[in-house]
Amino acid sequence: MVVVSVEIHVNGEQHRIEADLKTPLLYVLRNDLALNGPKYGCGLGECGACAILVDGRAVRSCTIPIAAVGKRHIVTLEGLARGDELHPVQRAFVEEAAAQCGYCLNGMIIATVALAARKPDANESDIRQALRHHLCRCGTHVEILAAVRRSLQNVRAEHLARAPDEEAGEQE
Ligand code: FES
Ligand code: FES
Repeated sequence: MVVVSVEIHVNGEQHRIEADLKTPLLYVLRNDLALNGPKYGCGLGECGACAILVDGRAVRSCTIPIAAVGKRHIVTLEGLARGDELHPVQRAFVEEAAAQCGYCLNGMIIATVALAARKPDANESDIRQALRHHLCRCGTHVEILAAVRRSLQNVRAEHLARAPDEEAGEQE
């Protein structure tokens, strides 16, 4: 065991962590930082329950050793909302009631946030590709796909609503 002291940047805050260098980032998020959005499913990078955003890309935190995180910016489910206002993707999952046990939802939402940022006009094929390695043991796939489609609509609507403000800001 080799204990390292590392600084990681999570949800806009810096944290110093002492841990064995092979400790999966998922364990640090859940056990050291009490961020329980990312879930432990398979521990093998196969189910998607532990997904987080690293520099905006959806990745599986169970397969990233803490020593490999470096200065990357990590966002977990807890970092998506703005105060009391849910992220438009979270709102879509609530609006579509897309959950049974809810265990897979962290991964589904994180994958959708990454997709919406990368390709807000994603088509059905893009959606299925983005979620193809996210497992839902409850069989909620139909509702989850509906929530992803609604997420993209919500994100596009939010961009449109903000556009006039942003243009005004640029002209000032
Ligand atoms: S727990 Fe990480 S992919 Fe399954
Ligand atoms: S809602 Fe239970 S695993 Fe997806």
